[in-house]
Amino acid sequence: MAGKEELSYSEAIAAAGDAFHRFPLIKIQGVPLMCPIVHNWDSIWAFCPDPSDLLIATYPKAGTTWTQEIVDLLLNNGDAEVARRAPTSFRIPFLEIHSPPPIPSGLSLLKNMDPPRVIKTHLPFKLVPEGFWKNKCKAIYVARNAKDNLVSYYHFDRMNLTQPEPGPWDGYIHKFMNGELAWGSWYDHVKGYWEEREKRNILYIFYEDMKENPQREVERIMRYLDLSLADDVISRIVELTSFKTMKENPMANYSFIPKPVFDQSISPFMRKGVVGDWTNHFSPAQTQLFDEDYKRKMKDADITFRTDI
Ligand code: A3P
Repeated sequence: MAGKEELSYSEAIAAAGDAFHRFPLIKIQGVPLMCPIVHNWDSIWAFCPDPSDLLIATYPKAGTTWTQEIVDLLLNNGDAEVARRAPTSFRIPFLEIHSPPPIPSGLSLLKNMDPPRVIKTHLPFKLVPEGFWKNKCKAIYVARNAKDNLVSYYHFDRMNLTQPEPGPWDGYIHKFMNGELAWGSWYDHVKGYWEEREKRNILYIFYEDMKENPQREVERIMRYLDLSLADDVISRIVELTSFKTMKENPMANYSFIPKPVFDQSISPFMRKGVVGDWTNHFSPAQTQLFDEDYKRKMKDADITFRTDI
């Protein structure tokens, strides 16, 4: 099954030909999104999930794929073979993604799946289709400290040939601070879900906590999903979702996406997987500028992020 999907995706990309390029961003309610998403916005906004569906929401590069793998394994009792049935994006469709036809959109993949489904989104809280909250769907939000998130996004934008050119590093920091990257402001994103987490029963977790103690966080997700798995199954899930194992897993490392879209020779999708890589990128002056701006933007939020563990 996975092989077939892999092949059909490559074929679809070949068929899409030169329709692929670095798509410009267009704003919806002040949030810049890749233009194919904006052109299909009405159908995305109208999407109505089943109450049994689960949403995994993140700002890009906060640990989405890692969480998707953990959730898929939890829902399948730690069965590695089942989790290798298809690449991540087919197991857990990306709600808003639209690519040139005939590449399947997130919505078309979802249409062909029976609930309960797990659904990925990078949309900020205010752009998540209201049906998720009306139907009281469970949702997991993963947040990552701003500086590591920014570094990861910079390298991703170098290799993801469908998003705008990142340009030089120094300018990229400013684009991040100004909320000009795809899916908008990191600050608004993490705050938006934080403010709604209790009212909407959102499980809000942190990348740094997952790195510090993956077993504790896997168990936290397990309890949220009302599952109860044996200790050895939990240990297996922790092992199967380690950075090293996922980097080598073709169903989790995005190697199924060919070079015209993700050029992993520029930077691998599974890049470093650590907390604190920002120290290798930020100069002391950039750190000072960023931290001062951060304090202003985050002063109204009581969220504590760790930049080292
Ligand atoms: P880096 O670029 O810092 O290495 P997303 O899935 O949201 O796009 O996030 C990708 C980031 O998560 C990348 O960060 C990637 O290496 C990291 N990542 C993916 N799987 C991971 C894992 N199992 N453990 C730790 N980090 C992981």
